[in-house]
Amino acid sequence: MRDASANANAKRAAGEAAAELVKDGMVVGLGTGSTVAWTIRRLGERIQEEGLQLLGVPTSYQAENLAIDSGIRLTTLNQNPVLDLAIDGADQVDEDLMVIKGGGAAHTREKVVACSARRFVIVADEGKYVKRLNHAVPVEVLPFAVRLVEQRLMDMGGAPLLRLGKMKDGPVITDNGNFLIDVDFEEIADPRGLAARISSIPGVVEHGIFDNLDELYLARAAGVEIIKKRG
Ligand code: 5RP
Repeated sequence: MRDASANANAKRAAGEAAAELVKDGMVVGLGTGSTVAWTIRRLGERIQEEGLQLLGVPTSYQAENLAIDSGIRLTTLNQNPVLDLAIDGADQVDEDLMVIKGGGAAHTREKVVACSARRFVIVADEGKYVKRLNHAVPVEVLPFAVRLVEQRLMDMGGAPLLRLGKMKDGPVITDNGNFLIDVDFEEIADPRGLAARISSIPGVVEHGIFDNLDELYLARAAGVEIIKKRG
């Protein structure tokens, strides 16, 4: 078990390393969470130090606020539908580079942004790298449909739990105005198959299984390892 400061250092190392991927003139998707926050801050420093020119597309209010504080100019997917690069964090990544995201309830916009990018990079500490995914899968759902979705997820063998707010009574409300269900499927043998089944439930807005990762920046004790998609 790593201590908290080693974990924080690992997040910072991975996040800052990926910031070096950004070149002048790029349009970049800016992910959500504490690891990619280091990427966003480092991009702000590079703007100050080198005069780096970039436009960012934020995946959440958190990313938007941090990008503004870091001096990054923002744009939208309507103005720039194809991004050069998207960088984001993850809750878990397996050896086939399948990913679970949504710990910050932002996976719907994160997936739209990642799928709009020519290259999708994840930054993570090595505690998140596993042989097989077993993290609970976040599912964003229309509030109107929550009971139906919960029942269908149970029929699929999952254990759904409505995510509740901290410092806010009742359910978490996503940046899109929806509810979020965390679904424990224990070890996930077929992430792509599970993803397709969850997507087919009426009322599901988006789930947190991502299958489009190109490169993982993984902070290990010895340094940041870059793991690329096979083939
Ligand atoms: C937000 C996410 C985050 O990227 C994920 O939860 C990782 O966060 P952190 O870098 O803080 O561990 O998917 O929806």
